[in-house]
Amino acid sequence: MPPETPLERLRRMREESLIGGGERRIEAQHKKGKLTARERIDFLVDEGSFVELDRFVTHRCTNFDMQDQKILGDGVVTGHALVDGRPVYLYSQDFTVFGGSLSETHAEKICKVMDQATQVGVPDLGLNDSGGARIQEGVQSLGGYAEIFWRNTRASGVIPQLSAILGPCAGGAVYSPAITDFIMMVEKTSYMHITGPEVLRTVTHEEVTSEELGGSEVHNERSGVAHFASPDDKSCLLLMRKLLSYLPLNNAEDPPFVSTDDPSDRQDPELDTIVTADPQKPYDMTRVIERIVDADSFLEVQSGWARNMLIGFGRLGGRVVGIVANQPAVLAGCLDIEASEKGARFIRFCDAFNIPIVTFEDVPGFLPGTQQEYDGIIRHGAKLLYAYCEATVPKLTVITRKAYGGAYDVMASKHIRSDVNIAWPGAQIAVMGASGATRIIHRREIAEAEDPKAEEKRLADDYEATFNNPYRAAARGFIDDVIEASTTRPYLIRALGLLASKHQPGPTRKHGNIPL
Ligand code: HXC
Repeated sequence: MPPETPLERLRRMREESLIGGGERRIEAQHKKGKLTARERIDFLVDEGSFVELDRFVTHRCTNFDMQDQKILGDGVVTGHALVDGRPVYLYSQDFTVFGGSLSETHAEKICKVMDQATQVGVPDLGLNDSGGARIQEGVQSLGGYAEIFWRNTRASGVIPQLSAILGPCAGGAVYSPAITDFIMMVEKTSYMHITGPEVLRTVTHEEVTSEELGGSEVHNERSGVAHFASPDDKSCLLLMRKLLSYLPLNNAEDPPFVSTDDPSDRQDPELDTIVTADPQKPYDMTRVIERIVDADSFLEVQSGWARNMLIGFGRLGGRVVGIVANQPAVLAGCLDIEASEKGARFIRFCDAFNIPIVTFEDVPGFLPGTQQEYDGIIRHGAKLLYAYCEATVPKLTVITRKAYGGAYDVMASKHIRSDVNIAWPGAQIAVMGASGATRIIHRREIAEAEDPKAEEKRLADDYEATFNNPYRAAARGFIDDVIEASTTRPYLIRALGLLASKHQPGPTRKHGNIPL
């Protein structure tokens, strides 16, 4: 047998690096309905665009005879690629190699792409599928996690960071995705939790499965940890591509413009009647948004959690906008703790990445109740207020119906430096609803009236006629105009064009102190 030439050696080692933990484990991965780390990359990025880094890296561990078990790449595939022709850095954990567990060298590979992504100024994508810290290594692995967390934090607001959870993600490992901007989970095959079912059984005597404790449904509908749920790996990765189409490469760039056939001057008469005349009757704000933005451009974020607040991306005349809206169809669109947090984080993302914020407002106020007060609605509601006040991207507000009380101020009012504020003709901008207001300010007259009910109604009608309309606010310039609902799209598109060059410098400071 002639000795292996350098070229043969390279080819052999490259081949070897492609098979990770071997055929048996790849088959096991497929049996679970999951793709392998490399299949995921191939599916996610533009064909032939992936450039791999560090394929020959192996771990340095010598405990438990680990020196005899070295697998090229050490359980994570890293590199850069193109998505829709735009660059990204990424890592994809390989569950077939020590369960995708994170060793010191595995962490170093991830850190390398994070450092490069931040320096080059392009998004960093993490495809997570890992049994957590490499148990054989101990503290080196913990150090590796902390190096990643630090980089996630340094990169926050500089480049978009997206996390797909495509398998286990447990223990402290959850905190890297948690610091990133968006978490996407796959139903049934992914989970995230701080401590697993076994620990719970011992410590709290609770019997739960990983799915019940931290599956996609839990985090998309109950905890608000995740932003998107998908039925399988492929749809999750397609969604990641779609999400990227709304995002700039970094905080110094604008999001990509996508030209549209949907005319900028399109009016929609349906909007004139979509909001019911009866202020107690709900309607679906999603329909309002979809009729206004470019056709098929609305991508809702966190659609299953805090549904009284609607957030998502859309385009208006080809320009990306972040949409924040009250949803009158859920809890009458009240602001509560979860809605405030949901809105606040999204607004901060948009502000960090030069995405104008369009607010659709129909809010009867903050949700009253002891539970909300005990759980700190003051603190949490303040996050939403703070985020809106802090945001310097163009802010446009459309009051579709109610704008009551403190919620009027919070939801991008003129007073907190929204740029364009308009109302539809049926808008009610007031301290509170007519019946509540009447009962407070006319308590005595109502009690002393011959027919208290009739008197209350008369006074409420009177209050409504005087205060519950948009013209008091318009008279003060607190809204710029009252427009026919059908003309909202052209109005917003013109305003966005004008505001594209908005520049609002802030005070010099290290950072503000958002009430967390
Ligand atoms: C080393 C690991 C591993 C780990 C799994 N493997 N987790 N090797 N370190 N953390 C290996 C297994 O030995 C096995 O190797 C292969 O990966 C697949 O694992 P299975 O158990 O066969 O797979 P499955 O039944 O699908 O179960 C997956 C799992 C389970 C639920 C993730 O493996 C598991 O519970 N692992 C341990 C999880 C854990 O406790 N991690 C540490 C958490 S503490 P072979 O050779 O048989 O294929 C932590 C702290 C982070 O992460 C703190 C950061 C600050």
